[in-house]
Amino acid sequence: MNEFRAVSALAGHAVDALLGRSMITTQEWPTDDINTLAALARAFAELDRAGIATPLCEHELAWALFFDRSTRTKSAWAGAASRLAMHPVIVDGSTTQVAHGETAVETGAMLGMNAHAMGVRNDQILGEGNTFIRDVTRGIDEYLVATANPRTVPVVNLQCDVDHPTQSMADLLWLEDNFAGAGGLAGRQITISWAYSPSYAKPLSVAQGLVTLLTRCGADITLAHPPGYELTEEALAAATENVAGGGSFRVVHDMDEAFRDADVVYPKSWGSHDLMVERVGAHAAGDDAALDAIEQRGLAQNAQHTDWICDERRMGLTADGLYMHCLPADIGAEVTPGVMERFKVHVAREAQWKMYVMMALIAGAKVSDLTSHLAALASDGAR
Ligand code: CP
Repeated sequence: MNEFRAVSALAGHAVDALLGRSMITTQEWPTDDINTLAALARAFAELDRAGIATPLCEHELAWALFFDRSTRTKSAWAGAASRLAMHPVIVDGSTTQVAHGETAVETGAMLGMNAHAMGVRNDQILGEGNTFIRDVTRGIDEYLVATANPRTVPVVNLQCDVDHPTQSMADLLWLEDNFAGAGGLAGRQITISWAYSPSYAKPLSVAQGLVTLLTRCGADITLAHPPGYELTEEALAAATENVAGGGSFRVVHDMDEAFRDADVVYPKSWGSHDLMVERVGAHAAGDDAALDAIEQRGLAQNAQHTDWICDERRMGLTADGLYMHCLPADIGAEVTPGVMERFKVHVAREAQWKMYVMMALIAGAKVSDLTSHLAALASDGAR
């Protein structure tokens, strides 16, 4: 079993503590459990990369409901569910009866009636997506209790308005890969920067997920954006609170300053805060014309900051920095083609971690004595 170091390193009692858990934000998870989840994702990656199957949830149904577009997260959900021998079903949320007014609680009950795991993306409107996911979770739990059904149906946030936890966990694992042999993440300078985008006003949740999770790693985190692109007060408060365990957190409004001497840069666009807030009312009123007008104003505001691009000059300011992105990137706007070309394998490897995070979340929530099961699979596979 020696060659399966990540599997051997798992602590059974810590992994068992994940049983029954949903992941709606990382902030709600204690750091010990975050570390266990990361270790479990590493164990799944190790087995998968060795070609060892992990059919731990055979014949079960893994629903995912998307109210926004996605490539990577859908693919990761399907990959994770298939590797656990589940049946992944991915549904466009706009085609469900939610569009006719069925509530999230009702939807949760109806989908949870048959499902064994549930993923949800609902990320476009501030104040809506996270509440929707919590209500789906409540609907599932109330159904299971009312029917005395012992089934565990973990809910995984596949991106909401507040957080994108499977993304930030994947990013954490990729960061750990890069700095494992160099003393880890403590004391590293990690920059999360706004970057120009002409395509659409993107959710705040990737940046919020990063500042709330990475401030727990002892690193020095810099958040950079032009004035007007603030994250929510809750995310900033969580980031500030999290650095009490070590490291630091600062906000700057100069991309060069943020890149100087950085070990890692994560330049990524998001929509202007005030326009995101304005969208809430227009969405509640079902006013599509107003939503379009707000979007156009958002893009015009973005266009005042076309110089917020990750290019080779700025990469030259860093300490031979690692470029990261959740993808898709606006190439030629957020990042130059040359920088992306240089890091294209890196960002693909970053993205692949998401599937293993999902496997860890689903199996960690559902499979008792998971550590023993994984050790047995490793042992059989090593023969
Ligand atoms: N990073 C990410 O969530 O990508 P998708 O939107 O393609 O899922």
